[in-house]
Amino acid sequence: MRKLIIDTDTGSDDAVALIMALKSTEVDVLAVTTVCGNVPLELATKNALMTVEVTNAQKPPVYAGAAKPLMRDLVTAVHVHGEDGMGDDHLIHPTLKPEYGHAVDLILDLVEKNPEEIEIVTIGPVTNIALAILKAPETMKKVKRIYSMGTAGFGPGNTTPVAEFNVYVDAEAYRIMMNSGIPVRIIGFDVCLGEAAWNRDDMELLLASQKEEAVFAVRCNRSLLEYNLQASGGYFVDLPDAVAMGVVLWEDIVLEDKLCYCYVCTTEEATYGQVVINDGRKSAISNGFGANLPNATVCKKIDNQLFKKRLLELLVR
Ligand code: RIB
Ligand code: CA
Repeated sequence: MRKLIIDTDTGSDDAVALIMALKSTEVDVLAVTTVCGNVPLELATKNALMTVEVTNAQKPPVYAGAAKPLMRDLVTAVHVHGEDGMGDDHLIHPTLKPEYGHAVDLILDLVEKNPEEIEIVTIGPVTNIALAILKAPETMKKVKRIYSMGTAGFGPGNTTPVAEFNVYVDAEAYRIMMNSGIPVRIIGFDVCLGEAAWNRDDMELLLASQKEEAVFAVRCNRSLLEYNLQASGGYFVDLPDAVAMGVVLWEDIVLEDKLCYCYVCTTEEATYGQVVINDGRKSAISNGFGANLPNATVCKKIDNQLFKKRLLELLVR
């Protein structure tokens, strides 16, 4: 059985990803670790606990981690996910409590006890991962692989013209992860759009199922839906973290990926959080980053319709 640690800043799309993993019979979620991002740490932790509580499936322990990025002040996404990060629909009243101990120490402990077996899924800023690497780099080299929802991939940013939110919150942490030597599989924002998003019919199907976690998954994304309606007039809920979890659970939805060299920008304010991805194509003038060895496998194309079909089936099961 595959062993996962899920590191999350528990906004509403994170919640869907968590429900997917908890309900999957293919993975053992050893722990959920929380990090500041979409919302401050305390809310991210409460949201994770509530998601575990409402999901009728495995009940992993939840450990709180970093309350601020490595170098900068926290930037949240409450304007997208709601003040509570979960649609501001009075859903968050967990009876479950977080475990004692810091998420970073938990990650290191599990990796030491399960060398070459732990797959870490990061669906928020990677501050906890960077802290673990800084604290015990040799231990973190025993991580089997990291799946990261992060970067704009080969498209524009969603937080600045060039930066995706999870990297933008803590680009220094993302750079530490990318330079660690741990195998990393990146699901960028660019492959999480279009047909992968829930439309009105999808959400009505989930509500009609009357499954507690399916109804919760729709209701907690209420703010995201309102944000999209106001921003673009479209009735849809894009779920980047759920797409990333889809890649974790169902490798066959990946139609194209590429070994790439990824360079994380941390100095210039205008490009802070940008990840320049060199997929090896030859440049006309110079070899650009040609001298650098690849440090991640980046998804380039996903079967979004197959992903969504499997996601809906899993949530109503
Ligand atoms: O850019 C999308 C990512 O930022 C997702 O993980 C979302 O939850 C937010 O954390
Ligand atoms: Ca997230």
